[in-house]
Amino acid sequence: MARITAGVATSHVPAIGAALDNGRSGEDYWKPLFAGYDFSKKWIAEDKPDVVILVYNDHASAFSLELIPTFAIGCADSFQPADEGWGPRPVPVVEGHPALAWHLAEKLILDEFDMTIVNRMDVDHGLTVPLSLMFGQPQAWPCKVIPLAVNVVQYPPPTGNRCYNLGKAIRRAVESFPEDLKVQVWGTGGMSHQLQGPRAGLINRAFDNAFLDRLVDDPVAQSKVPHLDYVREAGSEGIELVMWLIMRGALDDKVKVAHRFYHVPASNTAVGHLILENGAA
Ligand code: DHB
Ligand code: FE
Repeated sequence: MARITAGVATSHVPAIGAALDNGRSGEDYWKPLFAGYDFSKKWIAEDKPDVVILVYNDHASAFSLELIPTFAIGCADSFQPADEGWGPRPVPVVEGHPALAWHLAEKLILDEFDMTIVNRMDVDHGLTVPLSLMFGQPQAWPCKVIPLAVNVVQYPPPTGNRCYNLGKAIRRAVESFPEDLKVQVWGTGGMSHQLQGPRAGLINRAFDNAFLDRLVDDPVAQSKVPHLDYVREAGSEGIELVMWLIMRGALDDKVKVAHRFYHVPASNTAVGHLILENGAA
């Protein structure tokens, strides 16, 4: 039987990918950010997932205002890094796990979560930056990845509660897959940031840290927080945080915090990072 061993949450920022790709991660500006992931790289080399279900958002790379799926699951054999205007990132092609992805699509849809099935999709910094932060710069990504894209760009995104319950459904679906696989679920994007308008540059450390506390200890309460609170307190792009609730829903009610990190700034964004392990109870 496949099982979920752990969840990882991390913010994404395109400039983090550019810092790595251009050999600038040792600069004073970036050093403290990457240091926050030193533990994570060792941890994941030991936990060795077979598959990561990587919950992220597309930024008008694979989708656009012409096509806006609320939840989309990548069922392809592989996914190419997207060209976001500077050429595709020089990172490995993302290898999928079609058998588990199709199983998830079937179970989730029959469980009344209407996933959009995607058989061709380029993946942007929302997916590749978290991979780089966790795995560094390998020749090939060391595990299979199932991209699960969430609309947090065009109002209305899914509610926190919907995301939390999708996580629970993902867990049921994974545990009904017969092959013996170690699966991690990642929730990415956030924390506080706003890229546009008069409040561009907004950071809210108090909100971010309260979110980290509650995501760990009281995810049900966090799942009830309305969109407006995220946007007011964490900025227009802070709404990306609802994706972390999908990861949290896929884990045990009580989890062990293996690692927690918070750093400001990375470009315009507050970077938060959690590693949560099942089996704490
Ligand atoms: C930045 C952050 C994002 O989440 C994003 O998608 C694009 C840019 C930034 O801080 O620069
Ligand atoms: Fe983003």
